[in-house]
Amino acid sequence: MFDTHTPHHTKVVALGNQKGGVGKTTNTVHLARALAERGRKVLVWDLDMNSGATKHFGIPTDAFMGTFEVLIGEEEPRDVVLTSSEEGIHLPENLHLIPSRRKLEAIDETLAARNKFIARSDVLLKPIASLRGLYDYIFLDTAPNATAPTVASYKAADWFILSAIPDPFAVDGLKDALLDIHAVQQFGNPQLRILGVILSAVDERTRLARTLSDYVERAFRMQEDAGESVRFSTVIHRSTVIPAAQKVGRTLFETEPTHKVTAQYRSLASEVEARVAAAEGPNQSPETTTATETNRG
Ligand SMILES: Nc1ncnc2c1ncn2[C@@H]1O[C@H](COP(=O)(O)OP(=O)(O)O)[C@@H](O)[C@H]1O
Ligand SMILES: [Mg+2]
Repeated sequence: MFDTHTPHHTKVVALGNQKGGVGKTTNTVHLARALAERGRKVLVWDLDMNSGATKHFGIPTDAFMGTFEVLIGEEEPRDVVLTSSEEGIHLPENLHLIPSRRKLEAIDETLAARNKFIARSDVLLKPIASLRGLYDYIFLDTAPNATAPTVASYKAADWFILSAIPDPFAVDGLKDALLDIHAVQQFGNPQLRILGVILSAVDERTRLARTLSDYVERAFRMQEDAGESVRFSTVIHRSTVIPAAQKVGRTLFETEPTHKVTAQYRSLASEVEARVAAAEGPNQSPETTTATETNRG
């Protein structure tokens, strides 16, 4: 199941924002799928008790062990990873999933009851360490709350991607998320870096979208003290093809391979690879760098 001969330089990417309904799961699933299409080995780890990513891949949410069992230390992540080789599982090639289920809502109490010396924020460190080398990317899809899986994802990740959609509270959500990132950089994970901000569900040329986009430009340029904007230049448009794909438990790459939004996710994936390559330098991951992508930065 795992290609252990050529170890991968694993990038652990958390997608967050303390707000729900901002496109985190949709972006995680489609970015992962787009990278898998580019031949990367990708793991999506569903850390949300609502199982959005698990459902998006059409996986029944109560049939498999997954996040809960790993976080309480009963299972090794590699033993609960789902792949397309499993009977009845329709995961895309190169894309694996650690599923979640409703039981995960009891994780904080369960951890506290089992061992009061376990720090909630540390529960992903060992599991993630055990997966390094097996994938090019591990995406952590978290819930919009501060339960153990969410807090732990900030501590275990190398990179952070923020999601925002044009709604009146988007700017507040981003500000809170930035505070969380700075806090975790000071207390526990100095390595964590912001990879970018995805603007999605954008209706073209609406004022709200422009306002949000302008805010992200200004706020994050200052924060990062960088010439280049942290906002990804690819914007994901709003389209009914997304809820339609979610309903049938597939990604756009299966249901609408030539749609504009599918193409936008391909372009986002190429930006992600270019940013990672630029930040990590050519020696880190020669196999993941192509000529066109090294032109940036
Ligand atoms: N680009 C888009 N176009 C239309 N609907 C979208 C788009 N992105 C997300 N949605 C919808 O918005 C809702 C919230 O998205 P989701 O990814 O589940 O957010 P989160 O994980 O942040 O809670 C879902 O119903 C999803 O179908
Ligand atoms: Mg979600």
